[in-house]
Amino acid sequence: MNAENIKSRLSHIKNPVTQASFHQEDRWKEISENSGKITITYDREGISPQDKRVIEAMVVEALKEFATPDNIVLKTVSNSSADVFKAVGTQAPAAQPAQIKTGHAQPMAKKSVPGVGKVVCIGSGKGGVGKSTFTVNLASSLLRMGKKVGIIDADIYGPSIPMLLGKREQKPVASADKKIIPVESNGLKFLSFGLFIDEKDPVIWRGPMLGGVLNQFLFDADWNGIDYLLIDLPPGTGDIQLSMVQNCHVDGAIIISTPQDVALLDATKGLEMFRKLNLPIVGMVENMSSFVCSNCQHEHHIFGDGGVEKASKKLDVSFLGAIPLELELRTSADEGMPYMLNPSYEGRSVNRAFTAVSQKIDQYFNPGSEPKSGFLSKLFQR
Ligand SMILES: Nc1ncnc2c1ncn2[C@@H]1O[C@H](COP(=O)(O)OP(=O)(O)O)[C@@H](O)[C@H]1O
Ligand SMILES: [Mg+2]
Repeated sequence: MNAENIKSRLSHIKNPVTQASFHQEDRWKEISENSGKITITYDREGISPQDKRVIEAMVVEALKEFATPDNIVLKTVSNSSADVFKAVGTQAPAAQPAQIKTGHAQPMAKKSVPGVGKVVCIGSGKGGVGKSTFTVNLASSLLRMGKKVGIIDADIYGPSIPMLLGKREQKPVASADKKIIPVESNGLKFLSFGLFIDEKDPVIWRGPMLGGVLNQFLFDADWNGIDYLLIDLPPGTGDIQLSMVQNCHVDGAIIISTPQDVALLDATKGLEMFRKLNLPIVGMVENMSSFVCSNCQHEHHIFGDGGVEKASKKLDVSFLGAIPLELELRTSADEGMPYMLNPSYEGRSVNRAFTAVSQKIDQYFNPGSEPKSGFLSKLFQR
C-alpha cells in the first residue's frame, strides 16, 4: 500500500463547503505507510469541527481493508495561521501538525447486534419534528404486521420513549448472564437513556460516555429474536450518530422532516452525513404534513405543501409517505399508549398513512414478501 494507492482510495473525499475534492484542492499534504500504520496529514483550513469528524470517519472507512482505526493517524495543518503571522511581519513558527488519533474515537470493529434481524436508525435534522412519535408508531405498525420490534432511545437530549410507551418509572434489570433486559410495553421492547437518568437532572453525560452507554444498549442487552431494532437518534449530526454508525452494523436510515424549509435544510445535512458514512438510506418521511380541521373539515398545509417529497426527489432518495397532524397522535403520546395500537383510531388518515409507510419500509428490507393484512384483528383478539 503506497501513498498513491492510499490517495486513490480517498479520491471521493470532498470539501463540503466548495464540493471540490481534497485532491483537487491539494489538501493531502503527506501520506505514508510504515509497517501497517498509515499516517495522513491534511490541510483542514476552513473545515468545521463537525465536518472534520465526518471526513476522518470517511478516511477510516475507506482504508478499513488495509488498517484498523487504531493504525490510522490523522494529522492536520492549517494554512491560515501561517498567513496571519506573515501579515503582522512575525516569523511564522513551523506548522506543528496537531496529533489526532482517530482510533480513540472508534476502538471497536463494526459489530452486528446479536439476535437482531435489521437495525434501523431514525434521524432528523432538528428536534421537535416528531421523530420519537414516528419511531413508536412505526414500531407499533410493524408489530401489527407480525414483526418483533425493539426500540433504543438514543436521544440523550430528549429521551421521550419511556413517556410515549407509558413506562417512565420502570428501571431495567439484568439477567443472570449480566445482559440488560429491555423493558416491555404493549408488546414492544425498549431501552432508553431516560430510564437511567432522573428526568429533573441536567444532562451531564458527554461524548465518550454516551457512546459507551449506547454500545451497552446495543451489545450488552438481550435483543434476541427481534426482527427490527429501531434507533431513535438525537437530532442533528453529532457524536452519537457517528459512534452508532462506526461501531454498529446498521441496515438502513430513515429521515423525518416537516415540510418547512428550515427543517428540510437540517434534514438534508443529516442525510448527507449518513450518505458519507455509507449508510443505506431507506427514505424520507414528511411529518405534520397537513392538518384536517375538525370544525371546517378543510385540509391545511400549515408547514408548506409537499416539501419533503420534492426534496427527496432532488436528493435522489425514496419518499416513504406523509403523516398528517392529528390531535389524538399527541394525546396518545401523552397517555403512553401508541396511536397505532389503539383500535379506536382504525381507518383514520393518520392510521392509514402509518400503515402505508411501514409497509414500504418492511418491503425495503424484505423485498418480495407480501404485506400481511388482517393481523390487527388477531392481535386485538388475544
Ligand atoms: N403528526 C403529528 N400530529 C400531532 N402531533 C404530533 C405529530 N407528530 C408529533 N407530534 C407531537 O409533536 C411533539 C414533538 O414530537 P416528538 O416525537 O417528541 O419529536 P422529536 O422526537 O422529533 O423531538 C410531541 O408533542 C408530539 O406528540
Ligand atoms: Mg424525540
